[in-house]
Amino acid sequence: MSIFQKTQGLKVVEMMHKFNLYPYFRKLEGTSGNNVVFKGKELVMMGSNNYLGLTHHPEVIKAGQEALAHWGTGCTGSRFLNGNLALHEELEERLAKFLGYESALVFASGFMANQGAISTMTAKNEYVFSDEENHACIIEGCRLTKAEIIVYKHNDMDDLENKLKSVPAESNKLIITDGVFSMTGHIAKLDKIVELAKTYNAQTYVDDAHGLGTIGEGGRGTGSHFGLKADIFMGTFSKSLASQGGVICGNRETIEWIKHTARTFMFSAALSPSNAAIALKALDVLEKNPSLIQSVKENAQYLQKGLNDLGLDTFGTETCIVPVMIGPDQLALTICQQLLELGVFTTPVLYPAVPKGHALIRCSVMASHTKEELDHAIKAFGQMVPMITAAKNQNEKGQTFADLLQAGSNLDGIKL
Ligand SMILES: Cc1ncc(COP(=O)(O)O)c(C=O)c1O
Repeated sequence: MSIFQKTQGLKVVEMMHKFNLYPYFRKLEGTSGNNVVFKGKELVMMGSNNYLGLTHHPEVIKAGQEALAHWGTGCTGSRFLNGNLALHEELEERLAKFLGYESALVFASGFMANQGAISTMTAKNEYVFSDEENHACIIEGCRLTKAEIIVYKHNDMDDLENKLKSVPAESNKLIITDGVFSMTGHIAKLDKIVELAKTYNAQTYVDDAHGLGTIGEGGRGTGSHFGLKADIFMGTFSKSLASQGGVICGNRETIEWIKHTARTFMFSAALSPSNAAIALKALDVLEKNPSLIQSVKENAQYLQKGLNDLGLDTFGTETCIVPVMIGPDQLALTICQQLLELGVFTTPVLYPAVPKGHALIRCSVMASHTKEELDHAIKAFGQMVPMITAAKNQNEKGQTFADLLQAGSNLDGIKL
């Protein structure tokens, strides 16, 4: 036996390649935001988090270029020691003001922001209540804390309340939720969560990676959507803000605490100057053009309606994340491949990210998508409808791709 033995077991990946169904790490040869080039062919990008379409905005690009020329390519160290730039602090001040918090702290990624902040804000004999569909980096933050983690059913306020009741009334409690859930596009019931937090003397933490720039007044996210504020706001720059990096907002003392204790902040190199400048400029563009939020919303509604008119189930999404229910894993893979051939780039979401037999294709809409591009995607999905309907009627077993391989199935024999 060797430690490497397990690394030879990725049969699923091997088989996906064999049947030309592997949907990951697609090597893109070019991109203009709305479109990407794959194997020499231009496709409509329907699977990106570039919600406001700002990755190719001329002012945003220029800001990145100027920061490169002014500050150089990297910070070559942690902000704690040698890498703290005026640019980082300007971005923090702007974000805190925009989002209505006393203070903000910028991390090198959203993942590091959650992992670092959650693990250091909570401690032994405290309780963290986490939605079962929260993002992986929240789970990682939870794994690192000594607090007890209590997972509640997705967006289920009765379950959350029962779980809040089950711990000592005087204990410290933090409720953590995604603001907009990244797979279904559903919005967390933050109004109810804040109400429960008041009743049970808990604090609230919202990861608004997908809410920032897309919902709420001027794109201020889920809290703003409900006209309230969570105690802690977490956001990323890797989606609407067309850059990379993450932010935690809260009151001054909490942010000071995180700044001096979060290991993913203190012991990792600072966000690069160009990424900070890009996020700052994207925020400018957002503040000056609130109509972008209307555009992304209208585009999402247009796509959703088009897909629903075809008879496809889009989970009643409320945001610019538009999932399409497919069913079996292998069908989702096949459809993704077919859509590529029809000029549409999408991504599949398979078990265990979703329950068995509930694989979906995650589409996401940008403010910059044209009606022609959306129509193109709808038309391509239209060609998939017979397959999806047939699968709905046939495959009630909910087999996953991995199950089929384990059972020795030959993919050639799978009826789609
Ligand atoms: C809900 C959520 N939180 C956090 C992150 C991590 O953000 P980043 O990509 O900036 O590391 C993501 C990324 O996909 C996300 O979807």
